[in-house]
Amino acid sequence: TDILCVVGARPNFMKIAPVMAALAGAGIRAKLVHTGQHYDAAMNGRFFTDLGIPHPDINLEVGSASHALQTAEIMRRFEPVLEQEQPAAILVVGDVNSTIACALVAAKRGVAVIHVEAGLRSHDRSMPEEINRVLTDQISDLLFITEKDAHKNLAREGIAAARVHFVGNVMIDTLHHNLPRAVPVAMTLGEVLPEGYGVLTLHRPSNVDDADILGNLLETVAMIAADLPIVFPLHPRTRASIDRLGLAAWLDRPGIKVLPPQGYLEMLGLMKDARIVLTDSGGIQEETTALGVPCLTLRHNTERPITVDEGTNTIVGTERKRILGAVEELLNGGGKAGRIPEFWDGRAAVRIAAILLHWLDARNHAVA
Ligand code: UD1
Repeated sequence: TDILCVVGARPNFMKIAPVMAALAGAGIRAKLVHTGQHYDAAMNGRFFTDLGIPHPDINLEVGSASHALQTAEIMRRFEPVLEQEQPAAILVVGDVNSTIACALVAAKRGVAVIHVEAGLRSHDRSMPEEINRVLTDQISDLLFITEKDAHKNLAREGIAAARVHFVGNVMIDTLHHNLPRAVPVAMTLGEVLPEGYGVLTLHRPSNVDDADILGNLLETVAMIAADLPIVFPLHPRTRASIDRLGLAAWLDRPGIKVLPPQGYLEMLGLMKDARIVLTDSGGIQEETTALGVPCLTLRHNTERPITVDEGTNTIVGTERKRILGAVEELLNGGGKAGRIPEFWDGRAAVRIAAILLHWLDARNHAVA
């Protein structure tokens, strides 16, 4: 094996699809390891089918646990795989626990680490993903960034510029590739919403684990839904929180349409025709920018500032007045048009594969 690619959680799957295809296209021998961090059919299986990702060669089947246990278990199970496969490098994507866990195992064994979607920083260390991003980048040999300014974050942390390559956004490769196959909204909802609709997603622990914060968000959404139907695919973490905190009544309000977690093609269809998207997801901030759909991010910061500077994203926080004000402005025709960021053109994975081919060549010469 030249490169052992790693995925674990839902936001990894759409990033690995074009990378696996481009590696194969470049004649690079790649294998796919799935850590099993996400395992539900709705969070996992259907993405492989929808996106045509090769069946994982190895599944570590770790499942859910506390951060420490989950990370440790991935490390424990990944080490023998690395030993067995002896790859030239491993390739990790994004910022989930599977990303740092496998990167750390490889770095300690002297195996090169390639990080796709490097250099993003929210500068908020209370966010588990921020820890994963900072640490993974520190131990990566090759860092592929999605937005040009990310190199400044890496330079500040002492990472040599020669390791960093600006290639664009592989998740947007996936979006371009699949847009023609997006599932129409009416099919997903089983009804037509003539006045349009908004889409809501929530899953960040900082938004969904606390009763006051989540209760306030759900009440605010219920107010919006009185004017504009809100389609709300529920992440398992959020579903569990709502039940535990006794907030389920807010889902029963007029205009709120709760769905189970959606497949990629369904989600694309929902976002593409939405009047607004409200989210705390990282990926959706980028997808809405690529689609030109207004996005209100229910967080106090973003690690993806280009979606605000160039795209359609606005950071609105979690305070009710600010959210309602921003929604009203958008529905009255306000808001920004946005433009497509550089290299978000569907060819990021091809650029990555070209660089990796060169890197593998140089390495093989050095070894020989
Ligand atoms: C993880 C990532 C997060 C990403 C998100 C997308 C980390 C630190 N977090 O968060 O960056 O945005 O995925 O979904 O890696 N669960 C299921 N079925 C599953 C997986 C999870 O029911 O297939 C439930 C379990 O109750 C679990 C909870 O969701 O305890 C949280 O799962 P976990 O993988 O720990 O983190 P996410 O919140 O999904």
